[in-house]
Amino acid sequence: MKKQFFLLLTSASLCLFACNNQDKTKETAAMTFQLTEQPFGTINNDTVTQYTLTNPNGMQVRILNYGGTVTNILVPDKNKTMGDVVLGFDSLAGYLQAGNPYFGCLVGRYGNRIAKGKFSIDGQTYQLTLNNNGNTLHGGVQGLNKVIWKATKQAGDSSLLLTYTSKDGDQGFPGNLSVEVVYTLTADNALQISYAATTDKATPVNLTNHCYFNLSGGKENTILNHEVMIQADQYTAVDTLLIPTGQLPSVKGTPFDFTVAKAIGKEMSAVKGGYDHNWVLNRKGNGLEKIATAYDAGSGRLMEVFTTEPGLQFYTGNFLDGTLQGTKGNTIYPQHAAFCMETQHFPDGPNQPSFPNTILKPGEKYSSVTRYQFSVK
Ligand code: GLA
Repeated sequence: MKKQFFLLLTSASLCLFACNNQDKTKETAAMTFQLTEQPFGTINNDTVTQYTLTNPNGMQVRILNYGGTVTNILVPDKNKTMGDVVLGFDSLAGYLQAGNPYFGCLVGRYGNRIAKGKFSIDGQTYQLTLNNNGNTLHGGVQGLNKVIWKATKQAGDSSLLLTYTSKDGDQGFPGNLSVEVVYTLTADNALQISYAATTDKATPVNLTNHCYFNLSGGKENTILNHEVMIQADQYTAVDTLLIPTGQLPSVKGTPFDFTVAKAIGKEMSAVKGGYDHNWVLNRKGNGLEKIATAYDAGSGRLMEVFTTEPGLQFYTGNFLDGTLQGTKGNTIYPQHAAFCMETQHFPDGPNQPSFPNTILKPGEKYSSVTRYQFSVK
């Protein structure tokens, strides 16, 4: 029912948009989708390019072929003033610095943690590169966030296709993995990310994006007043190094209960360091379903998250500490300056038989879609 309502709304807004467009053909001649590119520096001899997608409302998303990194998302507030709702750096040097906390990038081959960087498939054990307290985080030392992707503009100027082949043995993962990611900016102010992958050997895959959102667009230096809803009755309990214990406690009566929207900061002090957990999403099926929302009352900006994934890492920027250099306009990003909603399979999936399967086999196609929908209320 909700889905039908959503579809109805979407088609209604598309129709409105189309009708508007007809009425104003002359004055809005330039108001079509645009996809432009500009150089953003070099790594060795490779040029890094920044692509800018603009929709007819003027919403913009900027993406680098380096790490498939979303550097900017410009969306209107309730007064129609544009604001950038993601954290980032002003130049490539910022993104290349060792302390870059995965701002805006694509994450893979395996988003989140794999305990001790080890797993077995069909009796064979694989060892990954370790980069997080003896564990593997976000695909290892040189994950997909640190490579240059091939970028191809798609017809219609509303999508950018990024492709990359990670070779057999890359970071210790088996199989040649071909990855395709399509970033699409829609007419109704959504950023949709579609992920696809194929392999020639069985291998774990868990792709996501690591945007750090602050919907105030620079007005609030933390997100503690943002109101968040997460459609989940359970979460994955973790040990002190954030490795799942295998248990899926109920959120009921705990600070992890976001089934009804509440301020992020409301009960966060009871969670050491802040939230950095995987929520087990309540799903109806396998399709694209709305699973989370975030709202900043000051700006009126609302972000709704739709995904096909079973999990959501809700991370409240716990490791930000105000020391990052080269940030946009030299803004200081203190702890909790932003939040991430990383749609995903559960952390350490390859070592947790009761978690949803994360092993992709030859002949199969990995596919996953996430949509960040922006509006105001
Ligand atoms: C994920 C992890 C966090 C942190 C960030 C990057 O969200 O769960 O613990 O490592 O990435 O800083």
